[in-house]
This record gives sequence, C-alpha cells and structure tokens, in this order.
Amino acid sequence: MSDDPRWSEVDEFLTKVVATPDEALTRTVQASQEAELPNIQVSYPQGQMLHILALLTSPRRILEIGALGGLSAIYLARALPADGKLVTLELNADFARVARKNIDQAGVGDRVEIRVGPAQKTLETMTPERDGPFDFVFIDADKDSGATYVEHAIRLSRPGTLILLDNTVRDGEIVNPNTTDPRVQGTVRALKLMGSHPRLVSTCIQTVGCKGYDGFALARVR
Ligand code: DHB
Ligand code: MG
Repeated sequence: MSDDPRWSEVDEFLTKVVATPDEALTRTVQASQEAELPNIQVSYPQGQMLHILALLTSPRRILEIGALGGLSAIYLARALPADGKLVTLELNADFARVARKNIDQAGVGDRVEIRVGPAQKTLETMTPERDGPFDFVFIDADKDSGATYVEHAIRLSRPGTLILLDNTVRDGEIVNPNTTDPRVQGTVRALKLMGSHPRLVSTCIQTVGCKGYDGFALARVR
C-alpha cells in the first residue's frame, strides 16, 4: 500500500489551520527527533483529538500505555485539572528520559508520573483504588499485547471511562488472513475483545494522514 501524498499535504494544512501546536509541542517533536526516537508519535491533529476526548471525561486520572517522547502525554495532561494525574508507562528508559524533559518543559511535569518497565508487569501491580480509577486510557505500546492492555484498562476503569487503542488498522493488514505478523494478530485479538466485551461499547475508525493508513479503536466502559 503506497501512501497518497495528499494525506500528508492535508495533515500539514489541518495542522496549520485547525490543530496548531504551540511551542512546547513543536519543541517536543524536535527534541524527540534529535534524540533519534522512532518517528511514530501521534500527529498534532491526532494529539488534539486525544486532548478533546480526554476533556469529555472531566478527568482526574489518566493512564497512558507507551510514552515514547511524551507528545501525547502533554496533550492528555493538559486535559487534567491542576491536581489531576497522568500515569504513563514506558518500557525504554532512554525514551522515558526524553519524555520526562519534554513533559517538564511543557509545564505539566507535576501532573505526570512515568513508570519505567514492561507495561504488563507495571499494570499487574496497579489497582483501581490506589492508582485510579482512570477516566481515560490511551493504549499506544507494543501491538502484540493490545488485548492484555485493554483487559487491564477495563479493570482500572469506572463506568464512563473512555479507552482509546492506537494503530488498529495497520495499512489494512488486519483483514489479511495470511498475516504472520504478531503485531497484526495482536491487534485483531484486541479488536475482537473490544467488540465482544460485555462492559464495553466499542468502535474502530480508519484514518489516513502523515502517519499513513491506520486507525484507532474507541470504547466506553458501561
Ligand atoms: C508504530 C507504532 C505506533 O504506535 C504508531 O502510532 C505508528 C507506528 C510502529 O511500531 O510501527
Ligand atoms: Mg501509535
């Protein structure tokens, strides 16, 4: 699947006219590039969507799985009140250091805790009473484990919690029955779980843009 150049041109236009990043956000992307992090963070329009969806939950607690350089964490933390808290889980200690700096320079460092290590291990130690309940959960980590992360998100949620799972279409590979890619297989498992879970109302939307052809799944906990 080759990307249509208009997808990126349109994203540039939308970034200029409707989802314009401030300096803290552009500095975050620049610092992430300079640190040679993979260029797979959310686009600015996607980040702004996360911010709006989080705002809709009137959040006090937000959980992010997969911090990378902290761009999405900044968008999410900006939806929190001054005494709110975002917990973000990151496997890679180098990425976590970059994220820490980016989040701090954006002025939301006091609202953000980064827990370094394999997310699954960290999640197993977390309880809704002590760490949550979370009002919004953004899952954007290793794609093999999506279903496990969704299960933990539900466990740490309250009725009304929104759960957003990133990268759910993967160039359309989710409908390739011959795929041997464990990331695609993991994504399909997560989608099936979201679609059949009695505590979720779920959907999945395809997207194109500067990040190619992909999508996201969104669910609300009953
Ligand atoms: C990849 C991961 C992401 O979270 C994303 O948004 C895009 C790509 C990846 O691993 O290729
Ligand atoms: Mg992603």
